[in-house]
Amino acid sequence: MDRYGSPLYVYSRTDIENNWREFDSAFGDHPHLVCYAVKANSNIAVLNVLAKIGAGFDIVSIGELERVLAAGGQASNCVFSGVAKTQVEIKRGLEAGIRCFNVESAAELGRIEQVASGMNVQAPISIRVNPNVDAKTHPYISTGLKENKFGVDIDDALVLYKTAQQSKYLSIKGLDCHIGSQLTDVSPFLDALDKVLGLIEILKNQGIDIEHLDLGGGVGIVYDDETTIDIAAYIAAVLKKVGNLEIILEPGRAIVGNAGAFITKVEFLKRNSDKSFAIIDGAMNDLLRPAFYNAYHQVLPVRENAQGIESNWDLVGPICETGDFLAKDRVLSLSEGDYLAIMSAGAYGFTMSSNYNSRPRVAEVMVSDNTHHLIRKRETIQDLFNTEILIND
Ligand code: LLP
Repeated sequence: MDRYGSPLYVYSRTDIENNWREFDSAFGDHPHLVCYAVKANSNIAVLNVLAKIGAGFDIVSIGELERVLAAGGQASNCVFSGVAKTQVEIKRGLEAGIRCFNVESAAELGRIEQVASGMNVQAPISIRVNPNVDAKTHPYISTGLKENKFGVDIDDALVLYKTAQQSKYLSIKGLDCHIGSQLTDVSPFLDALDKVLGLIEILKNQGIDIEHLDLGGGVGIVYDDETTIDIAAYIAAVLKKVGNLEIILEPGRAIVGNAGAFITKVEFLKRNSDKSFAIIDGAMNDLLRPAFYNAYHQVLPVRENAQGIESNWDLVGPICETGDFLAKDRVLSLSEGDYLAIMSAGAYGFTMSSNYNSRPRVAEVMVSDNTHHLIRKRETIQDLFNTEILIND
């Protein structure tokens, strides 16, 4: 902390590698590609570590594509998801040679065809179908129900595949679905799988062959004491049903979530008759999940056997919002100046951070082989308004 300052994100390279390998090795010899979902943590050092061990990537913007390329990843191992790809993004994806566009609507399919025809190339596509299953997760991160904006209805997908089959600028590669995030039960995945396998059968009967099936991400991690999906068992259950079909997965959280912690310092202790507040230097702009989803993250003291005032603490940040908390009602012994580790913060931590209240975004560090590396400098105050322009009058 003396070296890097506080607050700070810290990641373990070994954990990131082991988590990706757990997915990869569960497939054995079966054709597959484990595409890490870049949105979970897009630091180029994280992407580089994963590229070196053979990961593919699930990207949702041109920014994420350029990050993967800057990190030494291969475009040919990238699948491009997202509901609103722009013409510029499609063109860049085609130029770079991405593996597949996961198409989310008829309009988007038309746009991809138009850009590909302008470049006189064939765009590799996969239709993202919405299997209408309930992922039974937080409503903000549930994506596979009819009421969600994602994918096309399974019944409409056939029409899109026929359109794609007739176009000389579109090349059908796969079928895709992603039903939500932080699933802790495997059954919605297997229900979705049965539905998409039914569609693949229908497509086959119409002369449309699929090379790969992309089952998206969504494997939940342990934040508290929940039980979650056994990755090897999940993949074994998938492989039992899919014959020789190549499988793509897009895990994000399961690769980096528990490989990272957010470190923050206790600035002040403030107690009144009802409440004990520990005011910390980290805030909702640094780690949004508690404020946004009421998400639970375990809190551990960085120094073992810390002596201090034992109470039921709410950990609150310096931001002028009542929702600015990182944890509530935690029994801890705290003193001013203590450091706390907010656990399971490697996924959707830094990537969802902002400059709200003109707070510079924090530094990131990676621990690798008993040493540590700065992988993102802390923003400076100057960085906050470097791109802003005064009007002269
Ligand atoms: N593929 C697609 C198409 C996705 O939309 C997502 C996540 C993933 C893969 C990766 O899902 P994962 O394996 O990480 O569950 N900000 C929220 C999570 C949003 C997830 C969005 N999509 C959170 O902090 O919980």
